[in-house]
Amino acid sequence: MIYPIVKYGDPVLEKPAETIVHFDEELKQLADDMFESMYAAHGVGLAAPQIGISKRIVVIDINFKEDPNDKLVLINPEVIRTEGKQRGSEGCLSLPEFREDVTRPNIVTVRAQDLDGKWFETSGEELMARALMHETDHLNGKLYISHVSALKRDLMKRKIKKLVRAGEWA
Ligand code: NI
Repeated sequence: MIYPIVKYGDPVLEKPAETIVHFDEELKQLADDMFESMYAAHGVGLAAPQIGISKRIVVIDINFKEDPNDKLVLINPEVIRTEGKQRGSEGCLSLPEFREDVTRPNIVTVRAQDLDGKWFETSGEELMARALMHETDHLNGKLYISHVSALKRDLMKRKIKKLVRAGEWA
């Protein structure tokens, strides 16, 4: 099932998500639904709070359907190592139409559980490192706008307020 994407302004995006303890069929279904919802929204990463579910699960496919082996599910992920720096344009399905430059580590290692509850580590660089940081941030109630300058953030917030008033942000 395709869930609508929750937009900036909804409190679910700004609170820490709950640890997942049950690794059951329901969780597998949620992961499938998250991929479906992410692809429908043309995204390369999605965290459960973005579909209104405050649980620590994210899905990532930075190559957007190119290879089924690229589909990554991270449950209860923690960033355990970072290296270097990169600066580049970043967007978020919960902030449609916006993009801003964000500085992120260039190499990121995450420890997470899979759909069976088994712990594993995964590393990524460049776009993958950015996705790992962006999506784990979501589970901590953090959006990428917290990484842009106060000036740009205020501008974005003002534009969003206008969109809300115009009924174009729901
Ligand atoms: Ni996002």
